Amino acid sequence: RDPGWTEWVDVIVVGSGIAGLTAALRLRDQVERIAVVTKDVLAAGSTQWAQGGIAAALGPEDTPEQHEVDTLVAGAGACDAEAVRVLVTEGPDAVQELIDWGANFDKDPEGNLSLTREGGHHRDRIAHANGDATGAEIQRALIGAVKRAPEILVFEHAMVVDLVTAEDGGVAGLTIHVMGEGDADGVGLVRARAVVLASGGLGQVFSQTTNPAVSTADGMAIALRAGARLRDLEFVQFHPTVMYLGPDSRGQQPLISEAVRGEGAVLVDWEGRRFMQGVHELADLAPRDIVSKAIMKRMLETGRPHMWLDARHLGRDFWERRFPTILASCESHGIDPAIDLIPVAPACHYASGGVATDLWGRSSVPGLYATGEVACSGVHGANRLASNSLLEGLVFSRRIAQVLPTELRPLSQPVAQSGSVGLVAGDVRKEIQEIMTASAGVLRSAEGLSRAIEALAKIADTPAAAIDPDAWETTNLLTISAALAEAARRREETRGSHWREDFPDRDDARFAGHIDVVLTGADG
Ligand code: SIN
Repeated sequence: RDPGWTEWVDVIVVGSGIAGLTAALRLRDQVERIAVVTKDVLAAGSTQWAQGGIAAALGPEDTPEQHEVDTLVAGAGACDAEAVRVLVTEGPDAVQELIDWGANFDKDPEGNLSLTREGGHHRDRIAHANGDATGAEIQRALIGAVKRAPEILVFEHAMVVDLVTAEDGGVAGLTIHVMGEGDADGVGLVRARAVVLASGGLGQVFSQTTNPAVSTADGMAIALRAGARLRDLEFVQFHPTVMYLGPDSRGQQPLISEAVRGEGAVLVDWEGRRFMQGVHELADLAPRDIVSKAIMKRMLETGRPHMWLDARHLGRDFWERRFPTILASCESHGIDPAIDLIPVAPACHYASGGVATDLWGRSSVPGLYATGEVACSGVHGANRLASNSLLEGLVFSRRIAQVLPTELRPLSQPVAQSGSVGLVAGDVRKEIQEIMTASAGVLRSAEGLSRAIEALAKIADTPAAAIDPDAWETTNLLTISAALAEAARRREETRGSHWREDFPDRDDARFAGHIDVVLTGADG
């Protein structure tokens, strides 16, 4: 369909969480026309929901080298060492810049940053805000900074439909649908000299996730269709302690931050027995993949739908002061965590893979950059270390801003003809999520994954009757589900968050390195 209108900018940033807004703030003095587009309101993405905090070697006892070791160990041998080095060495300055932009982190009585610990960390290095509302504070500060920078054009309720490429294969802009304006299927063209994807993750691929409704893998799908290389999609992190709301609960589920275990809560089974002791030297604070697997194993052994988090001994006062958001969320579900056990089970939390990028956020498509959860910079490997995600968005957006202004593409490049995308109807979304949860979720096997791939292919044959945002999102979910299931089938070992029933052990001899996906299929 031909675009109904055309706009011209230098740089367009897609997404408005920590990664997108940092990129925009860092680029604003260096390029003439910069726009941020987001398909909901600025604060609707995952950053707003982050509880635990942001990790960086900020404490007197800590060093970037120790943060590096913990990140590499959690990543289970699949991290890119150079990218991790960049993350941990540039992290402390990046957090300081966030503070300079107005983010208020919690302080101890002496006025120093109050740092806590989460799974996989051997030091207290997680800065947090308002107890357990770190993401909301960061989002507030960044939106404030963007509002004080009127040169950044902001378009809310604007869904990116596809990237537009030039005849040389590089980026030429993107097509956009502004919700509520024009026909349901009306799109406009924004020509740009560079595009920064910062559009977040893919949580809505699964039936239960901690991610908000907007996390529908759009950035990964449009990058794939534009010819970009995706990487390590099978490394989807399942957070161990997501509140269990019953078998029929779907969509975004309440997170119980790892910081609650960092402050002393423990996991127990239905007999009240602790089960993380002896599984790992850090027990309840083992890296996330190990805790999720231990919970799932205990669920499978006992036939129970969830396990329990015991945080009663923290006491009411501590709960009110340290975890007010989680306390309110528990109470809204009839649980008083100072008196009751909290029912928890693993749910999809974070995409460690995504659009493959180099150390400067460049994708394989000239002019297309990616940062934050949509990207695979190599820092997370097979399992992201807790609270490294906000940091990744900050650090790599700053890096993009260092190189992008010198790499701007000519604006007048002729646009290449693109084939039309076969859309599927929005009402198959639930089916996609059920297939992925059953066969490509926490525990996977070749048989289950093959079944999922076949079922997804059948869904792809049912075209959408109407072109609308629901159909675009559902098509993106389907595209990335199929790519994820294929990558998971190809990785024939258990590593980090990728758990194969038929290859139950980590097997360095079988380690496939990165598994890459391009439009024609997985080509690892
Ligand atoms: C949490 O607070 O447990 C989540 C932190 C993270 O995902 O890094």
